[in-house]
This record gives sequence, structure tokens and C-alpha cells, in this order.
Amino acid sequence: MTNQDKVKELIDLRAKAKLGGGEKRIDSQHKKGKYTARERIAMLVDENSFEEFDMFVTHRCHNFGMEKTSFLGDGVVTGQGTVNGRLVFVFAQDFTVFGGALSETLAQKICKVMDKAMSVGAPVIGLNDSGGARIQEGVNSLAGYAEIFERNILASGVIPQISAIFGPCAGGAVYSPALTDFILMSDKTSYMFVTGPKVVKTVTGEDITTEELGGAEIHSTKSGVCHFLAANEEEGIALIRDLLSYLPSNNLEEAPMIVCNDPIDRLEDKLNSIIPDNPNLPYNMMEVIEGIVDNGKFLEVHQHYARNIIVGFARMGGRSIGIIANQPSFYAGVLDIEASRKAARFVRFCDCFNIPILTLVDVPGFLPGRIQEYGGIITNGAKLLFAYGEATVPKVTVTLRKSYGGAHDVMSCKQLRGDCNYAWPTAQIAVMGAKGAIEILYGKELANITDPEEKAKFIAEKEKEYNDTFANPYKAASYGYIDDVIEPRNTRFRVIRAFQSLQTKRVTNPMKKHSNIPL
Ligand code: HXC
Repeated sequence: MTNQDKVKELIDLRAKAKLGGGEKRIDSQHKKGKYTARERIAMLVDENSFEEFDMFVTHRCHNFGMEKTSFLGDGVVTGQGTVNGRLVFVFAQDFTVFGGALSETLAQKICKVMDKAMSVGAPVIGLNDSGGARIQEGVNSLAGYAEIFERNILASGVIPQISAIFGPCAGGAVYSPALTDFILMSDKTSYMFVTGPKVVKTVTGEDITTEELGGAEIHSTKSGVCHFLAANEEEGIALIRDLLSYLPSNNLEEAPMIVCNDPIDRLEDKLNSIIPDNPNLPYNMMEVIEGIVDNGKFLEVHQHYARNIIVGFARMGGRSIGIIANQPSFYAGVLDIEASRKAARFVRFCDCFNIPILTLVDVPGFLPGRIQEYGGIITNGAKLLFAYGEATVPKVTVTLRKSYGGAHDVMSCKQLRGDCNYAWPTAQIAVMGAKGAIEILYGKELANITDPEEKAKFIAEKEKEYNDTFANPYKAASYGYIDDVIEPRNTRFRVIRAFQSLQTKRVTNPMKKHSNIPL
């Protein structure tokens, strides 16, 4: 073979590897409305930036005649590229090769990119589309999964890990995405479950479809497993690129600053009148968020799950921040089990990756009742409390309206090391609302008043007294628990200034192996 032949051989081998499981299977993938692994990577990374590793890896399995069939690359495309000029590592399971099922060698390829990403401190993005453990490889496949899991765990809090699910993700395979920071699913073409509909039918007798059991919509609305629901793969990949723009490459860096063309002292006049006079009426917290962040741009996480709390990324003065905000227009913004878990995980993500936290408070308290207590609202509410109290990133809190009871403490109050705690003049900071308080404080007196008119008059008088005392921010401000009462339309400027002054904040927690957050 001449040297020229050798070069030609390389070119041919590369072309062969790029076809994965072959044209027929690529066509079948397209017919399902799905892209191939390489097409997905091409959409994800900057043009011509991708460098592939391990293109010539093949499996080593000799069971069930497997030695007769092998494909270059063995069912996963791995490598590095850039997204908006920043280095990322990627693996994309190739469904055209044994259904993307995980072999020992496939796992080794994934582990290699994860190790590289860890050694240089760059995010890992996994594009999942796989039939799970490669059945012919038995325990070697299970061991391969565990190698990946361990790396997911060690990388947690060191480099951002993002998982997209663009096809099947079943059995124990779900646990690698579950260990990463964010899961994105494409609507109608992806699913995740620990056991599929057939096993469910055998074990419980229940008839359920794949979509109902583990489709993107279910995981975005009911289980909260999925952070981002994308209408299709293109939208999903664009979302990942956007998400990465808010994140640092690793836990020792800060998120990139973007030039801010939105004036930092822009007044948002409509905020002065956004809070209704009637405390029982809602308003849309999203309008507040969009009114104060740079160019009104907010990337919401968990948009369809636990909608009584909003979490997501934005920029203020060009700097990336995480926002946690009660949503009065959904269940009055009450804190329940799901909302607490959702917000706690987000706070911890921001804290891992040096992203300052803005908390916008309008919370009537924790949701009472048997369902919440049986479900462990105590433990779950404690997660959010723990997350805020442990976080050492800059924390700015603005109380817009209600801040009642335990929920007041939980939502980044001063004593949980809130750095700047502001309130609008419409804030009401108290143990509970006036109605509940009067019923408890004057229960005996109320029981003795039989005339309804007299009773109503008594209640109105006492409620007025209570509201005059507590339904304002000045009591809390008089103790220094609120640093300043600010004009709502000036919130953007005050928050940006606060974050600017906190840029060099350095706080450390006591040395320990790790904390014991109530799980
Ligand atoms: C080996 C597999 C495979 C697997 C699919 N294939 N899954 N090969 N091991 N797990 C192969 C098929 O033989 C076929 O090969 C090709 O991939 C495409 O599969 P199809 O069935 O033709 O595709 P489709 O109809 O789209 O169905 C996709 C599927 C189905 C729903 C994923 O293939 C399926 O149910 N696979 C088994 C899923 C499963 O039970 N996996 C184990 C889960 S438990 P050819 O040559 O025809 O193209 C698990 C434990 C992990 O993963 C534990 C970690 C701790």
C-alpha cells in the first residue's frame, strides 16, 4: 500500500464512520422526525469547531454473534467544539448503531470526554437517544453505566452538565441525565422511564402509553424531571446554546459578562402601580422580572412545573444572575413541596457556579393541609431554607408584597445571610395575614359576639390595627432586617448597584466533608 493509498484509506474510513449504522437506518431516524447524532452536534457547536475523538473504536463483544457486526464509533459520537466561542465537550448517542445501546466501549468513549472536560474545566453536553444497556454485553454494559454515573457525580458542582433527551432513555440509563444539572426533552420524540409500559402492565396491571408514562410533557409538568421542554430538536439545541451563555465553564470561573445596552438606571414606571390595592388579587410576577432585567430577556427553567414559583436566568447590567420569584398569579405564590424542591435545586446550582441570586418575594406562606404534611413539606421546605442559608454567592432580595411566616425566613431573609434586602412600600412582613391573626388572637372574644354586624365591626377594627402595625415594610426596616424601602420603578437600578458592590464578596462556610441537606 502506498502512502497515498494510506491517506485514501483514512478518508474512506472516516466517511464510513460518519455513516454510523448506514443509510437505511439514517433514513429511518429521519422518518421518525429525528436527527442523527452528527447532525445534532453540527447544530449545537459553532461551525467547523467540532473535533471528534475515538471514531475508530469498535465493540469487543463476542456474545450472540456480535463479532460479525460492528460499526466504527460504536454507537456514540464524542468530541469537543465551541459554543459561542467557548469550549464544550459533547457526546451524542447514535441510534443508528445498535439503537445507541450502551456497550463497554461506548461507555469508555463517554468517560473519556467527561475526563477531558473535568481536566480543563469545560461543560459536558450529552445528547441521549439510546435503547439502554446493550443486551449482548450483559454486566459489562451495567459496569459502563456505573463508570459514567461516578463521573457525573464527581463532576457535579465542578463543570456544568447538560442532558438533552432526543429519543428513548429507559431503565437505569435515566440516571446519568438525572445526575446532571439540566435535562431538556424534545416533545413527542423523547421519553424517560425506569420501566416501560409493558413492565408496568405486568407488575401493576395498568395500561399506559409511553407518552403518558414518560413523555416530555409529563416530565415537564408532573414529575419535574425535565427542566426544558422543547417543541423539536432544533429548538432544544438553540435552548442549550442560550443556557450555556449564562453559565461559567466551571466552578472557578464567573459567567461571561455581556455588553449591556439597556441603561442600568432605566425606570420601569409601571412597577409603581403593579401591586393591586386588594391584597387578595394577583398580578403577574413575570412582568416584574421582564421589567427589571436587561432587555426583558429571561430564560425560565422548569417553566411548566410548580408554577407558583419562577426560577431562571437573566442578566442585569450584563452580568448573569439567577432569579427565584414567587408567582402570585398561580396558587397565590404559595410555597408547597414541588415549589420548594424546584427552587432549592436552582439556588444550589447558582451557588455551585458563582451565579448571584436575586429573590423576588410575594409569598403568603407554606401550603397547609394533609397532602402537604404527608408528602413531607417539612423536609422539602427545609431544602429551600438550607439551600439559601448555605449559599455564599451574592444574594439580593426584594420583598414586593407578602412575606409571611416561615416562608418569610425561607425566601432569602437577612438572617440567612441575605446581602441586600430591599422592600417595596407595598411589602407586608408578618407572622401571618390579618384575617388568620385576628381569628387566633381574638378567638374567645369572637365566640362571645353573637350579633353578626357587631362581629364584622370588631374584626374590621382589629384587622386595621394589625395591618397598621404589620402590613408595611417599616417595622422590619426599623430593626434593620430590610436595608432600604425602594421605589418600585427604580428596582432595576438598585438591584444592579447592589450586585456591583457585591462583586468581590467572599464568604466561606465551615470546613466539612459535605453538608447534610434534608433529602
Ligand atoms: C442491543 C438494541 C437495544 C439494546 C435496541 N437495539 N435496543 N440492541 N441492546 N438495548 C437495537 C435493535 O436490535 C435494532 O437493531 C436497533 O437497535 C433499533 O431498534 P428497534 O427496536 O428496531 O427500534 P425502535 O422500534 O425504534 O424501538 C426502540 C426501542 C426498542 C424502544 C428502544 O429497541 C427497545 O425496546 N429496546 C430495548 C430497550 C430496553 O429494554 N433496554 C434495556 C433497558 S434496561 P437493528 O440491527 O435491527 O438496527 C437498561 C439498564 C441500564 O438499560 C442499567 C444502568 C444501571
